[in-house]
Amino acid sequence: MAMDMFWDDTELIEKIQKLKNEKNAFIIAHSYERPEIQDIADEVGDSLELSRLAAKTDADIIVFCSVHFMAETAKILSPQKLVLLPAIEAGCPLADMITPEQLTIEKSKYPDAGVVAYVNCSAEIKAMADVCCTSANAIQVVNAMPQDQILFVPDQHLGRWVQKHSNKKIILWAGGCPTHQRMKARDIFQIKEEHPDALVLMHPEASEELCQLADAVLSTSQMLRFCQNSTAQKFIIGTEMGMLHRLRTAMPNKIFFQPSKGLICPNMKMTQLEDVYESLLELKYPIEIPEHIRIQAKKSLEGMLSVIPVK
Ligand code: 13P
Repeated sequence: MAMDMFWDDTELIEKIQKLKNEKNAFIIAHSYERPEIQDIADEVGDSLELSRLAAKTDADIIVFCSVHFMAETAKILSPQKLVLLPAIEAGCPLADMITPEQLTIEKSKYPDAGVVAYVNCSAEIKAMADVCCTSANAIQVVNAMPQDQILFVPDQHLGRWVQKHSNKKIILWAGGCPTHQRMKARDIFQIKEEHPDALVLMHPEASEELCQLADAVLSTSQMLRFCQNSTAQKFIIGTEMGMLHRLRTAMPNKIFFQPSKGLICPNMKMTQLEDVYESLLELKYPIEIPEHIRIQAKKSLEGMLSVIPVK
């Protein structure tokens, strides 16, 4: 169906709200989404919070404004709901850095290791893991594993961060987020020189060198709570730029700096208001997962959700 013409965003937003109510839909958005998408969402959160929301909402339709693996996570947990990804081409290069075939080979090298999969991976990888984790709970998930040796996939940086907080032996996978990897230590030194009183918050997908320069290493929603609870007024935010909108909206009186212009995830920016409208209107693009994979992947996600309550 051809896209209707809208003269301004106000009209488009009204149509989105109307369709959302008519169809009993729930719009969720990740912290990295465009400002206007965060503003129309019913909830904005980190990947752990969005997984929990997807599992408990009683809406019939979940419009997941994010990238493919996050919408897949919602479908794994809520198969009876229609989960829509408005921009079907929004993928995650980190999630693509491991295939089931590669994981099969790696698992055979370490038969005694427990397998922990960061949620930034496909449903097939989740199904092959013992448990999943997000950046908000990776340390707790790994430390709760019965095995002493952990094969941690696919993010090497998060794996290294976990290793610093665990007595387990972590076997790393050589994946990494291209957006976080674009940030360099010199970016932090430079912005710290300009704003010496600002605290540095870093996402654990950033390199070990960057995490060491930070005052705190946190998931996106943990960053929000940290800033809300801190007496500091200025913060340097070492993660994707969408997070700045979330922080500035929640705390208009505090000051947030972006350490590098390169901190932009092209996939998270794919979803536009028109896509959300079309998604609701034409029910696209539905996420489908073969049932045998979904059941196994659900076990790994439920294992993660049972480890610790969100802080
Ligand atoms: P959070 O879980 O911290 O929101 O991070 C998700 C992610 O994909 C980071 O790149």
